Amino acid sequence: MMFMRRDFAVEVVGSYDAPSVLDVGCGSGRVAENLIDAGAGQYTGVDFSEPMLELASERLRRFGDRVRLETGDFLEADLGGPYDVVVALGFFDYIENPVPFVTRMRELCKGSVVASFPEWTWVKGPLRKIRYEVLADCPIFNYTSRELELMFQAAGFKQVSCTERNGGILLRADV
Ligand SMILES: C[S@@+](CC[C@H](N)C(=O)[O-])C[C@H]1O[C@@H](n2cnc3c(N)ncnc32)[C@H](O)[C@@H]1O
Repeated sequence: MMFMRRDFAVEVVGSYDAPSVLDVGCGSGRVAENLIDAGAGQYTGVDFSEPMLELASERLRRFGDRVRLETGDFLEADLGGPYDVVVALGFFDYIENPVPFVTRMRELCKGSVVASFPEWTWVKGPLRKIRYEVLADCPIFNYTSRELELMFQAAGFKQVSCTERNGGILLRADV
């Protein structure tokens, strides 16, 4: 799933000409390198974890001022924009109420959103819940493609498509 979602984001970024890219919950910047190599003209990563952003800063130093890293909560940080592509990979897995995040993504996006979600299935769902919530004390939230389509449409995206793969959902939403 990790590589599939990265490849999916790379494909969308590559379909624009030197796009501005916002990476929501960019973490240590692993995906960032690929997005910049795929042609991102300007890359902004936001994350509220300082240690993660320090790693990202090291990793992305060679790209100079094409990269901007912001420490803070995505819902509150001053991020400028709007951006051609907004990427949120692995971000929604731990978000209890996704609606404000989707709304903010719409405000900050003038092209496409690419996001990954853990899918709810009756086989994997309960196991995932046990693994994360009971064993790791970490809640995880699951989605269906239909719910996601309705949520992104309600936020103002005109075209929403979901692809189900390996227990996850890859979503592309266009304004
Ligand atoms: C599972 S990691 C995914 C990292 C990266 N996108 C990737 O695919 O490798 C989720 C990241 O989102 C960040 N995060 C979660 N909620 C956030 C919020 N409200 N604002 C900013 N960052 C957030 C976490 O600190 C974490 O680094």
